[in-house]
Amino acid sequence: MKNIVILISGRGSNMEAIVDACASEQWPARIAAVVSNKASAGGLQFAASRGIPTAVVDHKAFDTREAFDAELARVIDGYQPDLVVLAGFMRILTEGFVRHFEGRMLNIHPSLLPAFPGLHTHQRAIEAGCKLAGATVHFVTPDLDHGPIVAQAAVPVLADDTEASLSARVLKQEHVMYPRAVRWFVEGALTLAQGRVTHQQGASQLLIGD
Ligand code: GAR
Repeated sequence: MKNIVILISGRGSNMEAIVDACASEQWPARIAAVVSNKASAGGLQFAASRGIPTAVVDHKAFDTREAFDAELARVIDGYQPDLVVLAGFMRILTEGFVRHFEGRMLNIHPSLLPAFPGLHTHQRAIEAGCKLAGATVHFVTPDLDHGPIVAQAAVPVLADDTEASLSARVLKQEHVMYPRAVRWFVEGALTLAQGRVTHQQGASQLLIGD
């Protein structure tokens, strides 16, 4: 059994999708904890309702990023994680924290990386006239929204898309892609070499949505 610790900051819909897939598909894993930097994160209630331990490490209680990250790492390590999953966790992480979990920490970012790291990705894709948008699951490296790509989901950008409509269509694909990518990790199906991630049985790492 692999231990997965999921980090959230808000709604937690990707976390829900992972919790549900782990149970219904009977992964060789358990969600050991859901940890948030905000006590108000809606996803905490869902996790608790599923009997998953929850914890809050409030970043506002710390003077420096280093102090916050050190406490966050201590709390996460208490659950003996094989994998840390960032699911809408909206904090910039220090290099020390990232190195501590290197090779066992995944993130989902709502763009086709390396395009549009950072915030407001869907609005920026629309303004740039992109015809494709999407989301990326990647291993976390010290560079923000950067790291070996595990999977990407792409959707067309429609002529009348708004930030809200595009993000809703991308999110639907995130809920398919992220559980799949996490499952690959816990099954030991991923190879990471020279900065590239491949699936050992050749499963498609590209999802095309509508
Ligand atoms: C998701 O769209 C995720 O891709 C994005 O935040 C949303 C969280 O939604 N992540 C980032 O922007 C990370 N930089 P959720 O809380 O419902 O899963």
